[in-house]
Amino acid sequence: MRAGSTEKKIEALLKELTLEEKARLVHASEYFRSGDVPRLGIPKITMSDGPMGVRNDFYPADWHPVGTTADAVSYLPCNSAIAATWNKELARTSGSVLGREARGRGKDMILAPGINIKRNPLCGRNFEYMSEDPCLIAEMVVPLIEGIQENDVSACVKHFACNAQEWERLWVNVELDERTLREIYLPGFEAAVRRAKTYGLMGSYNLVRGEHGSQSRFLLTKILREEWGYDGLVVSDWGAVHDTRAAAESGLDIEMGVTPDFDDYFLGRPLIEAVRKGEIAEAEVDKKVRHILRFMLRVRLIEIVQKEQKNGKGKMVAVPVADRDPGYYNGDIMHRYAKETAREAVILLKNEKHRLPVRPSQTRKLLVIGENANHLHANGGGSGEIKALYEVTPLMGLAREYGGNTEVKYVPGYYVPARLATDASWQEDSTAELMTDTKRRDGRKYDAREKALIKKYRDEAVALAKEYDDVVIVGGLNHDYDVEGMDRKDLSLPYGQDELIKAVLAVNPRAVVVMMAGSPVDMRAWKDDAQAILWMAYNGMEGGTALAEVISGTVNPSGKLPESLPAEFAQTPAAVCGDYPGRKLRAAEKKVMNAHLTQTFKEGVFVGYRYYEKFGVPLQFPFGHGLSYTEYKYSGLKVSKAPGALFEVQVKVKNTGHVSGKEAVQLYVGEKTVSEENPVKELKAFDKVELQPGEEKTLSFTLTERDFSHYCNEENCWKRMKGRMVIYVGASSADVRLKKEVTLS
Ligand code: GLC
Repeated sequence: MRAGSTEKKIEALLKELTLEEKARLVHASEYFRSGDVPRLGIPKITMSDGPMGVRNDFYPADWHPVGTTADAVSYLPCNSAIAATWNKELARTSGSVLGREARGRGKDMILAPGINIKRNPLCGRNFEYMSEDPCLIAEMVVPLIEGIQENDVSACVKHFACNAQEWERLWVNVELDERTLREIYLPGFEAAVRRAKTYGLMGSYNLVRGEHGSQSRFLLTKILREEWGYDGLVVSDWGAVHDTRAAAESGLDIEMGVTPDFDDYFLGRPLIEAVRKGEIAEAEVDKKVRHILRFMLRVRLIEIVQKEQKNGKGKMVAVPVADRDPGYYNGDIMHRYAKETAREAVILLKNEKHRLPVRPSQTRKLLVIGENANHLHANGGGSGEIKALYEVTPLMGLAREYGGNTEVKYVPGYYVPARLATDASWQEDSTAELMTDTKRRDGRKYDAREKALIKKYRDEAVALAKEYDDVVIVGGLNHDYDVEGMDRKDLSLPYGQDELIKAVLAVNPRAVVVMMAGSPVDMRAWKDDAQAILWMAYNGMEGGTALAEVISGTVNPSGKLPESLPAEFAQTPAAVCGDYPGRKLRAAEKKVMNAHLTQTFKEGVFVGYRYYEKFGVPLQFPFGHGLSYTEYKYSGLKVSKAPGALFEVQVKVKNTGHVSGKEAVQLYVGEKTVSEENPVKELKAFDKVELQPGEEKTLSFTLTERDFSHYCNEENCWKRMKGRMVIYVGASSADVRLKKEVTLS
């Protein structure tokens, strides 16, 4: 369909609509559907969460699940896990699974991926986001969205923007300078819009510079629409709209919500009245309708045709597209892709004395300690929850991987109180004034029975650990702590895990420790005692399989940290520079914004490793870190002029070990003499390469002007650095293997 004809058809159909009908299209008619205009064949847009799979179905206006057996789906690794693979192809295949299953479930838009910067390790939703680094996010979000949108379904990249905490998420106003915004918080979204051509985007709950993200003229009109030329669909977060005029005159298209009074939403009856009174121009509504109709055409939900009428006049109507992709879900290929991604998302943090792998032929008795070995995570976390067709736990994975010649014994090791009965309607009050964390957190005191269980579990684990040569402890967090609507209080491990892990290592120093978590935890109590530590975020339906295959050596781990692992919140930039959870509003602020508190990103661009490296803050493990069962030798770094770019960088990587493996090679850039306002170095490119033992490959990267530029607040533009620069190539941000100086005139 030629662009011209498309736009003409949209205009022609738009002309047929009354104001009331246009208003129906721009706000929800159900919790996960927009409004329709049956008279003209314009259907509802059907949406569904979330980043880890297609969420179970709800009734149109009731937050209780429909509860049939038909909406169990593939449960993918979370966005933090996908990022941990550093494998762009796996981002694409994960997107294709998500998109194909969404279509197969009859959806038009999947509310994914979440790509907010992991600025604050306390943020409850960090597991739904990718990284602290904008380059890693941008390079992974593009193939992921492209994979989704191959299936006549739309992605919905979220939450635009600066949604970095759950505490008072609807009412926290974020203040940050332009350079920080453009160098850290926007690039992932800019790549999603300008490179991946996302058809959908979701505004955020929080305010940015005094405007709520889902009705922000600055974010949605000035930056998204005008600067980036985005002509796709923008939906609000659910209940994130607070004002008719602001919503009408911003780049928002559809207001979604968590209450069933749909026609009374700000873009419902109030909008019609405001237009009727001449307070809001109908042209603003028309802009939204154009985006909505264009969206419908892009996902092939409709085509627009002329229908002959009895009076011989033609009328434009929307009709379904006969050969629209039907999608498919729960296919073997989906489970295989989930497994491939999970395998490369497992990160080997430490492996002294070649403790790992533990070959099945080497052990007849394997003790598995830790409730997280037996815990099903899929159905937690908030709106990202998934009704998984199945979920292989670490225990299941290990039992299967080691087979019948190895006795695999399980003990919980630590006590996890049953999750407080989270009523399925938690989302109905999820936009309540202030989310308290008593509802869904093990915040209560333990009773005598529970205290006895804690002691019993620990004693039996320690006693057994003495008898077993091979012990695997699986601990970490779960979705009582990595969860929407709440932030953690600190980085400590819950349920007394530190005491357990220390006690087990004291009697069996060979015990392997596995941490499952969507954000950093404090491992100082036992990290130095453990010989081997593995890390994985919520790793999907085959997470247990992947973990077991890494432990047994079937899979050589290749995951690398997509975020730094600080030991405590007090060390982080959000604590040292920022004023988390936010300061009270000043009188002047109260006059101009509907907020409860202001959080200033005073650390500026010094987020994650940019901060820790600049200020020499010791970390448990650095950004980009991940070991392998083999070794890689980097050599032959060459930098040459590149046509159409600044530099072409080539490097050789050789597998000098005895097992095949994959290595994520990272390229950073920084000034030779680092000026005060700049990070020491910043990730600008990466690639992952598979190498057989002894095999060597050459990787090449292109560096552009932008890679050597910073945003200048004073002049409000990008400015390229000058003078001596250093190009670093390494296995992590803290493991530079080669570097080369260049001069920028
Ligand atoms: C939630 C989340 C958003 C989700 C939406 C629908 O509040 O913030 O990520 O897609 O509402 O459940």
